[in-house]
Amino acid sequence: MKVIIVKSQEEGGKVAYDILAKAVENGAKTLGLATGSSPITLYQEMVKSDLDFSDITTINLDEYVGLENDNVQSYHFFMMDNLFQFRDFKETHVPEGKVSDLEEEARRYDQIIEENPIDLQVLGVGPNGHIGFNEPGTPIDSTTHITDLTQSTIEANKRFFNDIKDVPTKAITMGIKSIMDSKEIIMLAYGDKKADAVYQMVEGPVDVSFPASVLQNHPNVTVIVDEAAAAKLENK
Ligand code: F6R
Repeated sequence: MKVIIVKSQEEGGKVAYDILAKAVENGAKTLGLATGSSPITLYQEMVKSDLDFSDITTINLDEYVGLENDNVQSYHFFMMDNLFQFRDFKETHVPEGKVSDLEEEARRYDQIIEENPIDLQVLGVGPNGHIGFNEPGTPIDSTTHITDLTQSTIEANKRFFNDIKDVPTKAITMGIKSIMDSKEIIMLAYGDKKADAVYQMVEGPVDVSFPASVLQNHPNVTVIVDEAAAAKLENK
């Protein structure tokens, strides 16, 4: 794992954008995308860039179960709001969380991933180590699946909702196997609330009880963190 410590999330967005732009210039055709606070400055850089994304397919990590795509808390809405309304892509994919047959949706999503191998995957990390919504204990060979969100994730995500009762309790997520199959990974984490997670991810034991630690086994991961998130790392 390569760790880059930046001064701010703004600088992190620029560093991440440079990696992404290089991948696109080198022929990347599929980008795996994340939602949440961490990738926002990267998306801002993508919005203002003059890079041509019209031949690029995007595949998002996850979506809450039960929210309509136009719900402001949905990840469909987040992606439209932060990126897709501003820039044209060849295709954009986000799992559907409001379909009657979620298992069928998971199979459909795996098919999309199989047809579009991910060249560069953008990730954030949950305080409990989740990547995508692969919560602690998710098998490393998992593909797209429906998951119960842990109390820690519900707590961490309640900041986006009016009431904790409104936070969905289930999600559909790309699996750890699909994340690990991507050619390159950028992991973004900012702020002191991520310091423990960054330490466990980078320097802790590799174990599915802390899913992000599995990234230590991926050959091409760049972790971009600010000083607060890097505070607990021993080998800086
Ligand atoms: C989002 C996702 C999650 C987030 C993680 C960190 O699509 O898959 O794993 O990346 O919860 O979220 P933030 O960036 O909001 O701290």
